[in-house]
Amino acid sequence: MKILLTGGAGYIGSHTAIELMNAGYEIVICDDFSNSKPESIKRIKKISGKEFPFYEIDVADKPALEEVFEKENIGAVIHFAGYKAVGESVAKPVSYYRNNLDTTLTLLETMQKYGVKNLIFSSSATVYGAPDEVPIKETAVVGRCTNPYGWTKYMIERILESVCVSDKTFSAVLLRYFNPVGAHISGLIGEDPQGIPNNLMPYISQVAVGKLKEVGVFGNDYPTKDGTGVRDYIHVVDLAKGHVAAVKYIENNDGLEVFNLGTSVGYSVLDMIHAFEEANGIKIPYRITDRRPGDIAECFADASKAKEKLGWQAELGIVDMCRDTWRWQKNNPNGYSE
Ligand code: WQD
Repeated sequence: MKILLTGGAGYIGSHTAIELMNAGYEIVICDDFSNSKPESIKRIKKISGKEFPFYEIDVADKPALEEVFEKENIGAVIHFAGYKAVGESVAKPVSYYRNNLDTTLTLLETMQKYGVKNLIFSSSATVYGAPDEVPIKETAVVGRCTNPYGWTKYMIERILESVCVSDKTFSAVLLRYFNPVGAHISGLIGEDPQGIPNNLMPYISQVAVGKLKEVGVFGNDYPTKDGTGVRDYIHVVDLAKGHVAAVKYIENNDGLEVFNLGTSVGYSVLDMIHAFEEANGIKIPYRITDRRPGDIAECFADASKAKEKLGWQAELGIVDMCRDTWRWQKNNPNGYSE
């Protein structure tokens, strides 16, 4: 039985592909390259030394997706495919609802047709919105989303809940990611944002490599230890291993389960800038600017449930996150583009 990774050429998907193959699983990847590059697939094969089927398709294209299920013996699906830029989702809400919901509904119809009953969903801590308290548990209130991207994640979680109620043999695991950063130790795969990075770590690394002038720190008047935003940054390889643990879990459990994938440690923006400087011996110029609309002060996980039920916990620290980010960026100043 193979594991299908929709959107598997992307940042989290490519790292998960490597860890699944390291754990002895056979994989299939489908991706339309709307937010990734074919080079990523070549790099996954280079790192793993393994071949695997790849299909360049839009997951919302039902005939194309059915062909994948016809040809491949799929046992479980990890659903990464979806648009994920917060700011872009505010500017293009219909495109985000159309893409993220259509891909998911088409996938669920196709899984039903072919009797595939195990789905792991790439969800996000963004479904919590501004938390009442930190660290955040899976039982915290959800649905306080502040942008269409977050609403699509919230809606897909509710759709999967409904499927598990209607079909008692269906299993869904919702993985709520906190802030994925870092890159595979080879420096061959990593985060390759299109245009100017929205997220902090790729912005820092593009300043380090000279593509951008300085980091704008979005506000230093939050009620946090140094006034800058605090987040739970998790190394993408730890996150990938969390997916392997979820595959093992879903093979033996029915119904729906939710897990936070974070480190349970919060770092501020200034912590990240200084950690990057120390880990790599590079000065990162920054300037305090206005707050970014929609940002929250503090967000970090209580990841104890994943440790108890998945037997997983993050192992890599902030130095690894900074060193591995820099190795990828230094070796690939233009990401996967030539
Ligand atoms: C982190 C901190 C900013 C950029 C988002 C999505 C979330 C997930 C991860 C997809 C905040 C500050 C940032 C900059 C800054 N994405 N910052 N200057 O907003 O926590 O989460 O990305 O799943 O769903 O919501 O991540 O990296 O954008 O910001 O000061 O140039 O860095 O204010 O405190 P965020 P981020």
